[in-house]
Parts: sequence; structure tokens; C-alpha cells
Amino acid sequence: MVLYDRERARRVEAVRAAKTTGNGFQTRVAGGKAAVGGPFALVDAKTGKRFTDENLRGKFALLYFGFTHCPDICPDELEKVAKVTEATREALGAAKAEDALVPVFITIDPARDDAKRTREYVKEFHPEMIGLTGTDKTCGEAARKYRVYYRKTGDERATKDYLVDHSIITYLINPDGDFVTFYGKNTTEEEVTSSVLAHVREYRAANAEKASA
Ligand code: NI
Repeated sequence: MVLYDRERARRVEAVRAAKTTGNGFQTRVAGGKAAVGGPFALVDAKTGKRFTDENLRGKFALLYFGFTHCPDICPDELEKVAKVTEATREALGAAKAEDALVPVFITIDPARDDAKRTREYVKEFHPEMIGLTGTDKTCGEAARKYRVYYRKTGDERATKDYLVDHSIITYLINPDGDFVTFYGKNTTEEEVTSSVLAHVREYRAANAEKASA
């Protein structure tokens, strides 16, 4: 769909512009307003409790927005996220993934992806993958912060059988909760892993320097 492609191109461009504004660790643009990322308040599908961006502080995380009924792209991307998580954990010698990289799935289809469904879905990919759901409003707000585009396709009035067109982007967030960079569908597992590792090491080195200064 031409309209969709154009919109997606615009969003990707916006994400790219935000990324190249600084040194890769900066999420601010002129005016001090965050261009990508920021606070969100959702529900942890595993516990049913409120889960916000603050729950990820102190950790690197990969955020992926999608929906559990997605026939192929979301499963492929989440499998990639899971593999990157394991590769990163191993490379950093962490016992648990969360000590290296937290994999996070955020649904953009909360009407069908309730806590139970989301919880069971993420389990298929990685035992430590966090599944987040919410309401149309809260999930929509989180998606907007990350400039994720999505739209119901087919019969828009359908309540059960529909697909959701959406941007395929995975976001890397640092322990301060800042957007670091993003990866597209064509970025391979190996490329994402080496990029994540480089960012984690850069961040840790900078912090070690600060601590010893
Ligand atoms: Ni999908």
C-alpha cells in the first residue's frame, strides 16, 4: 500500500533524524524535547501489574511493538530479538538475560492481546521476555512515543479477524531509559548483536570512567 509505505518511510526518517541528532546516546533534539521514546505506563502480562519505562531503568532493553496474531513478521522479529538476547547474555557472561539485555514485546492490539494471551505468546520466544499490554489508549500512547505506525487492515469493523499493518522496528533503550538506536527488519541477528554489544560496552566504559573520576 503506497500510503502505508510513504507513512512508514516518513516515520523511519523521523527515527533516523532523531538518532543522528547526537552521538547515538542522545535522544534530544533542539528544544529539549525527546524525539523518540519516553515514559509509558502499561501492564506486565505476567503479573498483571502496572509496568512503566521506570521498571526498565538500570538495564539495556530491546523493545518491539507488534501483535500476537501477526502471521509471520512479528514471530520472525521476536525470534531475532530472543536470539540477540541470548547472544548478548553469553558474550557478557551474564547468568540472566536481564543482566545484559531485556527483551520486551509491546502489543499494539490490546483488544485481542490481553494479559493471558500476551503472556503465553512471549513465553514461546524467550523465558525472560516481558510482554506488555494495556488499553487502546495506553498502548497507542506508547507506540506514538516510539513513532510506531500501525493500522487495522481488511474489514476495519471486524472485532476478531483482522490484521494490523505496522512498522517493523526494534528499539534499543539504555539503562537511563534513553533511546539509543533502532534496527529494521533487514538488520541481521549478528548485526543487531554486535551493535548492542558495542553500545553496552561503550555505556559501561563511560560509567566506569565517571565512577573513577
Ligand atoms: Ni507483525
